[in-house]
Amino acid sequence: MTDVDTLLRPHAEQAFAHEIAALVAADDRPRPPAWQMSPWAVVTYLLGGTLPDGTVITPKYVGPRRVVEVAVATLATDRALLLLGVPGTAKTWVSEHLAAAVSGRSTLVVQGTSGTSEDAIRYGWNYARLLSEGPTDAALVPSPVMTAMREAGIARVEELTRIPSDVQDALITVLSEKSLPVPELGSEVQAAKGFNVIATANDRDRGVNELSSALRRRFNTVVLPLPATQDEEVEIVTRRVAQVGASLELPEVPPADEEIRRVVTVFRELRSGSTLDGRQALKTPSGTLSTAEAISVVAHGLALAAHFGDGVLRPADVAAGIVGAVVKDPVADTAVWVEYLESVVRERDGWHDFYGACREVSG
Ligand SMILES: Nc1ncnc2c1ncn2[C@@H]1O[C@H](COP(=O)(O)OP(=O)(O)OP(=O)(O)O)[C@@H](O)[C@H]1O
Ligand SMILES: [Mg+2]
Repeated sequence: MTDVDTLLRPHAEQAFAHEIAALVAADDRPRPPAWQMSPWAVVTYLLGGTLPDGTVITPKYVGPRRVVEVAVATLATDRALLLLGVPGTAKTWVSEHLAAAVSGRSTLVVQGTSGTSEDAIRYGWNYARLLSEGPTDAALVPSPVMTAMREAGIARVEELTRIPSDVQDALITVLSEKSLPVPELGSEVQAAKGFNVIATANDRDRGVNELSSALRRRFNTVVLPLPATQDEEVEIVTRRVAQVGASLELPEVPPADEEIRRVVTVFRELRSGSTLDGRQALKTPSGTLSTAEAISVVAHGLALAAHFGDGVLRPADVAAGIVGAVVKDPVADTAVWVEYLESVVRERDGWHDFYGACREVSG
């Protein structure tokens, strides 16, 4: 057994094994076939709560309860779940945690790319065995989808719309017939009760390989929204940075609410094209400025503060990261950034040090 603490990034079911075990033990509600806990317990696992025995379940996802309930309810039906949203809205993260909570296994993943082949969704062959034995059960290499069908698991398909349309269509039989034919063996794999699929797709990729209407009908689509308020986004960044910092074993840096709030403010203002008070219109940069990027900017700032600074997160520790996140296109975005810096950052009370730090890294 691997010691989970030595892993750079444990899977959800490893990192939160104690929470999952406590939920399973406390859960006396009805469970769909093959689920290790009830839908109610899955929602509690995602959104957090305290169990009767005092076990604290940490929130994994911060967002509307209803969104999570709809997603979990979908998995208990015969329709698959499609998580849709702009980049960095936790689609992959939610998909992993849902699979971990429902089936205890989040690792049956197909990573969608333009090069994803049908084999990755259906099955392939071990060629050495295929040549020596011909097509046999032993020579067949199941895809994660096939394994999930056999073992009543959840298969995850990441970035579904990046997969070429004709390859996507391999999922149609799986989702409508719940069966995967293997013509070479004259057999099929029929899905066990409890099997389902969670796919993720990015709003911005729309048009790359639009989902066929036949496939779309097999999915219930749940849109993961951007954080509704500044406070919510600050909470997400604070929580995730603490987790990331702990897993990287960064030296302890005191909570830096002010600096996190500032990063989130810059991101929200540039993302929405207006200052938070609504008084001033702003140009928006080409990048997405997602919550995920805000988390990396702060985590990187903490590493700077811990190893090269005075152990406190300072404006200079986040300035370079912010500029890097905002300026993706060196010409157009630099103009947007400089305008924001000079017309907003410079004038704002309490932002003087931050302004100076940004000037220094903006060259
Ligand atoms: N509402 C949220 N609650 C909790 N964590 C969040 C939230 N939004 C973003 N995050 C965090 O942002 C990070 C990135 O999320 P993730 O990779 O799942 O995004 P994504 O939607 O799959 O993005 P992409 O479209 O780029 O694949 C994760 O660490 C996740 O914890
Ligand atoms: Mg993703």
